[in-house]
Amino acid sequence: MTRTTVEMPLRSLVEHLRIRVAACARRYVLGIAGPPGAGKSTLSKSIRDELNLRAGCVIAEIAPMDGFHLPNAVLRATGDLERKGEPHTFDVDGYLETLRRLRDTPIGETVPWPTFDRAIEEPTPAGVVFGGHEIAITEGNYLLLDERESSPWSRVRALLDEVWYLDVDRDVIEHRLIRRHIRGGRSVDAARIKVHDSDLPNAGLIAGTRDRADLVLRQREGRYYAAQA
Ligand SMILES: Nc1ncnc2c1ncn2[C@@H]1O[C@H](COP(=O)(O)OP(=O)(O)OP(=O)(O)O)[C@@H](O)[C@H]1O
Ligand SMILES: [Mg+2]
Repeated sequence: MTRTTVEMPLRSLVEHLRIRVAACARRYVLGIAGPPGAGKSTLSKSIRDELNLRAGCVIAEIAPMDGFHLPNAVLRATGDLERKGEPHTFDVDGYLETLRRLRDTPIGETVPWPTFDRAIEEPTPAGVVFGGHEIAITEGNYLLLDERESSPWSRVRALLDEVWYLDVDRDVIEHRLIRRHIRGGRSVDAARIKVHDSDLPNAGLIAGTRDRADLVLRQREGRYYAAQA
């Protein structure tokens, strides 16, 4: 099977969503999955802002999976601080429960959602509060992870209306992550070790979930392309 790619301008992605959201009786939940550094947060913000702009009011907000990072004190106590970002370093049960609430609570009633403060590398409780939003964009690494049915991550997909997978070349990810760790205070060597021992093996695990996505997007030079069979 040969795969070609077609450019997917933001307005096409947003138009597709507007049709799906209009046909949905409750809050619509879009998932954006992909490896660390792929650009999930950037794409989510662009989609949210474009949806709100087109609607002329606030209809979309982001519900980051990153808000469910376990606090550093917990990871320190379990010896997992250097493995932060791996599947077991998140409160997955909290994510599932809050996702279910976000999806099932009538539009107009409040649902608090935690965000993640990269400056201190800690979650912020109720960093965002959903209310009248018709669409929630939940973005993170492990939305499509179900390598073991016993893993609680395997229950995420059923709570999402559709999932996009965002991909970029491995060397781009590597470069972005090393730069990010250095900006976060690590030495060049420590940044490289973190990326090679933890982030890139994670990216490999996540790449194995790509085929479960409804849409695979590749990001190249600031543009998005969809893979077509
Ligand atoms: N479309 C784009 N064009 C150019 N640079 C981009 C684009 N999207 C993301 N980037 C850059 O890539 C880096 C990572 O982006 P972002 O934080 O959105 O990734 P992420 O997938 O959310 O990462 P993480 O999983 O670690 O949260 C940022 O420096 C961002 O500026
Ligand atoms: Mg992000």
